[in-house]
Amino acid sequence: MAYENIIVETRGSVGLIALNRPQVLNALSTPLVRELGDALGRFEADSSVGAMVLTGSEKAFAAGADIKEMQSKTWPGTYTEDFITAEWESILRCRKPVIAAVAGYALGGGCELAMMCDFIIAADNARFGQPEIALGVTPGAGGTQRLTRFVGKSKAMDMCLTGRMMDADEAERSGLVSRVVAPERLVDEAVEAAQKIADTSLPIAMMVKESVDRSYEVSLSEGVRFERRLFQASFGTADQSEGMAAFVEKRKPNFSDR
Ligand code: CAA
Repeated sequence: MAYENIIVETRGSVGLIALNRPQVLNALSTPLVRELGDALGRFEADSSVGAMVLTGSEKAFAAGADIKEMQSKTWPGTYTEDFITAEWESILRCRKPVIAAVAGYALGGGCELAMMCDFIIAADNARFGQPEIALGVTPGAGGTQRLTRFVGKSKAMDMCLTGRMMDADEAERSGLVSRVVAPERLVDEAVEAAQKIADTSLPIAMMVKESVDRSYEVSLSEGVRFERRLFQASFGTADQSEGMAAFVEKRKPNFSDR
């Protein structure tokens, strides 16, 4: 598939995808989202890639779903095509870790796309928001659910009901983003973090991701039981033998993803 709305490259063992519709602040049109799904799927299948970074431009990660494309949609149409679910959730099917590197606007579907990633690194000019209410719709790609889990009910209600934006400092204080960096450091910082993950054992990194994600779906005791089974299973990997031997021998581990 030739890409017209994203730029894709590999840095080391990291797959880097940049949303690229600068004229509309990376508004998330169906062709863009389709290309994104294709690129993520390729990195997911590429054994030389251990983690991914999703970014935008310095001005916008993404200013939301493409309003001009959505304007003429109808209720039976959105329902029958299963709008959002059908095209947007490919990122949730990635089992390799995906980091969002967010500068500028991350609004509506842009904020929701960032929250579908495993964690968010933000530039200090990042601005997060769920302004859909001003368009006469609710958030539709998980905003009311994921934002609430990240920042709690009061801030999520405030953002979804008033549509106000949250700056990078508030987002870090509230637990929406993991770290804030200077805009010129953003992509490098995210790629370095992704490379650090890619240097570990792929199956173990995938298990860590799956286990943290499970904590949002089940009770604490079920989550801990799930984690315990993965922890026990990790002793069946060659990478456990290698990782612990390397520690004892005071050398760097050489993981084989087995
Ligand atoms: N869809 C389509 N086009 C968009 C867009 C969007 N979400 N956001 C910005 N654009 C376009 C503008 O229409 C404009 O295009 P033209 O030059 O052709 O007029 C261009 O991008 C630049 O935007 P602005 O001139 O508005 O730039 P600004 O700096 O003055 O304002 C902004 C920036 C505050 C982000 C403003 O563009 C804005 O409010 N955008 C819409 C944000 C929004 O409502 N997002 C939610 C969308 S709904 C959604 O995402 C549903 C869901 O949950 C899945």
